[in-house]
Amino acid sequence: MTNVQLIAALPKAELHVHVEGTLEPALKFDLAARNGVRLPYDSPQAVRDAYSFTDLTSFLVQYYDGMNVLLTEPDFYDLAMAYFTRAASDHVRWVELFFDPQAHTSRGVPFDIVIRGLRRAQLDAEATLGVRSALIMCFLRDFTPEFAMATLLESLPYRQWILGVGLDSDESDNPPAKFAAVFARARQEGYFLTMHCDVDQADSIEHIRQALHEIGVQRLDHGTNIVESPDLVAEVGRRRIGLTCCPVSNTWVSESSKSHLIKQLLDAGVKVTINSDDPAYFNGYLNANLELVDAEQHLTRAELTQLVRNAFEVSWAPTSLRDEWL
Ligand code: HPA
Ligand code: ZN
Repeated sequence: MTNVQLIAALPKAELHVHVEGTLEPALKFDLAARNGVRLPYDSPQAVRDAYSFTDLTSFLVQYYDGMNVLLTEPDFYDLAMAYFTRAASDHVRWVELFFDPQAHTSRGVPFDIVIRGLRRAQLDAEATLGVRSALIMCFLRDFTPEFAMATLLESLPYRQWILGVGLDSDESDNPPAKFAAVFARARQEGYFLTMHCDVDQADSIEHIRQALHEIGVQRLDHGTNIVESPDLVAEVGRRRIGLTCCPVSNTWVSESSKSHLIKQLLDAGVKVTINSDDPAYFNGYLNANLELVDAEQHLTRAELTQLVRNAFEVSWAPTSLRDEWL
C-alpha cells in the first residue's frame, strides 16, 4: 500500500475547518441565484480564478465577501452538508467544525438561523454519511470583546449544541488577552477553549504564551511558531496540547506549508494534527493536506498514522467515540 492509499484508507478526524471556508464556488453561485444576490463573476470558475491571497488579511477579505450569499437556514444546512459529504469521501469520521456567528449576525442574519441550519446538517450527516461532528463557535478577534461577550451570551440557549469556543480572524494587534473575560466566562459555562495563533504573525510567541498561560486553552490552532521557543515546545509536549496545523492553507498565507516544522514537532512528541482550514478557498481537503506533508517530508507509515491518531487523541469527542478509534 502506498502512503497515498494509506491516507485515503485511514479513518480520520478533522479539528480545524471553518464551515464558511468550505463554501465552494459552485455552491456560492447556486446560493446567490436562490437568494437574488448579485455576484461580480459570471461563472464559478471566474470566482476561483479571482482567489489570490498573499497573506491572512487578503484571504479574509474574500472569505467574508463570500459569506454574503448565506442568508437562510437551508443555506447553512446546504453549506455544512456539502462539506460533510466531501469529508465522508476522504473517510473523515469525526469533525470539530468552526463557525463564525458574528460574520452573520453583523450582516443581520440571526444566530438562530445559522445554528439551526448547521445542527440539522450535523444530524443528517451522522445518520446518512456516518460522519459525526461537534461545533466550535469562533469569536472574531478584530471585533470588540463586548461583541464577543454578547455572542457568548446569545449562544447559551444552544449550549448543548456547541462543544467549544475559538478565536479567529485578523490576529495583528488583536492578542488573546483582549478576550480574557470572554474566555473565562466560556470556561465557566463548560466550553472547551482553543484559539488561532496563526503562522508567522507578529508577536506570535507572545500570543501563544497568552493563550496558554492567561487564557488556558486546551489546543492551539496553527501554533507552529512554538518552534522558536524550546520552553514552549517542551510545555506543549508535556501538557499534550494539540496543535491543529493546516499545511495547504499555509502555502497561501505564508511562504511555505511549514511541513518541516510539523515534522520537527512530531519528532519532538508534540501532538500535531493535520487539517484543511478553508478547503474551498485553498483547494485542499483533509487527505490533500496529509499528502502534502507526506510528499515534502517523506513520512514513514508509522509517522503518518501517528499524525492521524493525534487528531483523535486531542479531539474533544466523547470518550466512548474516542475509544472506538484509539
Ligand atoms: N486564521 C484566522 N482566521 C480565519 C482563518 C485562519 O486560518 N480561517 C478562517 N478565518
Ligand atoms: Zn483557521
